[in-house]
Amino acid sequence: MGKLGTLIAAFALVAAGLSAPSAAAPGSPPEAQAEQLAAAGQAASTGRIGGADRYAVAVNISKYRYADPATAKVVYLTRSDTFADALTAGTLEDGPVLLVRPECGTLPAVTATEVARINPSRVIALGGTTSVCDKVLAQAAGGRATGRLGGVDRFESSANIARGAFSGGSATVYLTKGEVTPDAVVGGSLRDGPILLVSRDGRSVPAATAAVLAELNPTNVVALGGPASVSEAALTAAGAGRTVSRVGGANRYEVAANIAKRAYPSRTSRAYIARGDGNNFVDAVVSGMLKDGPVLLTPGTCEPVNSHTKAFLRARHPSAVVALGGTSTLCSSTLVGASMAARAKPDCAVLKCVAITYDDGPGAGTPTLLNTLASKRVPATFFVVGQMVDGNPAPTRRAYVEGHTIGNHTWDHKQLTTLTKAQQQWEVDVTDNELGQHGVKATTLLRPPYGSYNTNTRNLGFPLILWDVDPRDWDGPPSSATTRQNVVSAARNGSIILMHDVHWNTVNAAPGIIDDLHSLGFTLVSLDELVPGMKPGNVVYRRGSVTVQGVPADSSELGPVLDESGVPGLAPDRSPQEILQGAGNGG
Ligand code: NI
Repeated sequence: MGKLGTLIAAFALVAAGLSAPSAAAPGSPPEAQAEQLAAAGQAASTGRIGGADRYAVAVNISKYRYADPATAKVVYLTRSDTFADALTAGTLEDGPVLLVRPECGTLPAVTATEVARINPSRVIALGGTTSVCDKVLAQAAGGRATGRLGGVDRFESSANIARGAFSGGSATVYLTKGEVTPDAVVGGSLRDGPILLVSRDGRSVPAATAAVLAELNPTNVVALGGPASVSEAALTAAGAGRTVSRVGGANRYEVAANIAKRAYPSRTSRAYIARGDGNNFVDAVVSGMLKDGPVLLTPGTCEPVNSHTKAFLRARHPSAVVALGGTSTLCSSTLVGASMAARAKPDCAVLKCVAITYDDGPGAGTPTLLNTLASKRVPATFFVVGQMVDGNPAPTRRAYVEGHTIGNHTWDHKQLTTLTKAQQQWEVDVTDNELGQHGVKATTLLRPPYGSYNTNTRNLGFPLILWDVDPRDWDGPPSSATTRQNVVSAARNGSIILMHDVHWNTVNAAPGIIDDLHSLGFTLVSLDELVPGMKPGNVVYRRGSVTVQGVPADSSELGPVLDESGVPGLAPDRSPQEILQGAGNGG
């Protein structure tokens, strides 16, 4: 990659407001080092190829992919609103796909400038004149030769794109639904064959597709998407006499993850993430030109990473995750969440693991704490108080999207042992309802206020998460230096560390605490990772110290069963009054 490309990529990454040490340069990654970090539970570095609008995003992807303009022979153009003609353009490898305005609108300046930078021998419109009119094509070409890879409809367009990209035939051909779906778009990661369209209802093979199938004469025909996208009948008809198979999935996110697995069967140092809900995947359309990692999809502008995307990232743990599109398309929190998901799964039977937890919030300092956790790429658990979420939901929503665990700390921090079973149930249910209103899924972990619980509490359906390290950051509160010292001196392998993000001193202690724990060789993990297999009614103090109600503990997994009298002294937490007073001023 040339200097220019490095500069541009670096600019795009800086523009995202996130540090991205190795995300910029394909071909020059310090990957051995990055992989070792990933192996120790480090999240991926993040980057972004953004832009002010979709035209600029396409240009920036082109600048990244074709940093050396001599490597592109042509430039393809497609209209930016209905990209039916460009759905399968991801298989084109000889030049970028840039966007023009619909209805013969003014040529975007960024597109014109990028054509000039690439200086191709030819500028090619994807689709007929209704997609890219002759006037805009001529303007963009600026005196260079022009051409069209078009057809009377999308089916002929995709057939002609296939002819252009695989003129010598292809052993494999992929089929997708002829509707505008992202399956074809993310299929651009697949380099071993073209993508052809079946009918818009997925049930038949259009004549244009049948004709190019006969020409390419593949031995394998692979459907992308489930039977609702490409029906068995259509696959059988297209595959006549050939080997047929399917890269399926229950939804577009799973299909994308399965395509990524097929395109990158062993590992990938990088993964791209693009918005993929509804018809909001124009950035993914132009991503077909990226050949150094798969494109995964995320629903909406600022949603948690989909479970299928998460599973792929977890399994392949790329060292860099790169967002496609500006922050108004794909927010930074989703990108942070993707990088957290890309942590290699830590084995706490081998590593020295601890989990950090923050109670009683959200508070005024919670966003600052989230910045620290994001920059150090460390997961935490937030045991939130429902009425604090009610007053200030944004930090909890953000923590959730960024991949942290949200736990239940009751609605108003009552001591549960003073309540009836029904009242206890109300405390946790109302908190879950409040979280649900902000798109945060119901909690699965409960921390009873003051660490105080009884049999009724154990029957609420949650593991009860207590702690073995209490720096008493609520008592005074102490200075940040004291809290840091108290945490670091008490932490040991398997610890659950109790802190309170309603105190600024605790928030300000976080960078030092995380650095010290890392220096001492600890891997910071989520509670699920620290103590796998927790069950409702378990009382969890640390890894290896779990009391189990009714059934014996699986000591190989959870550690020895403790008599509850064997629990280390539990200092009381704070009173509800103290919490509510402390929250407003962050004290
Ligand atoms: Ni508390």
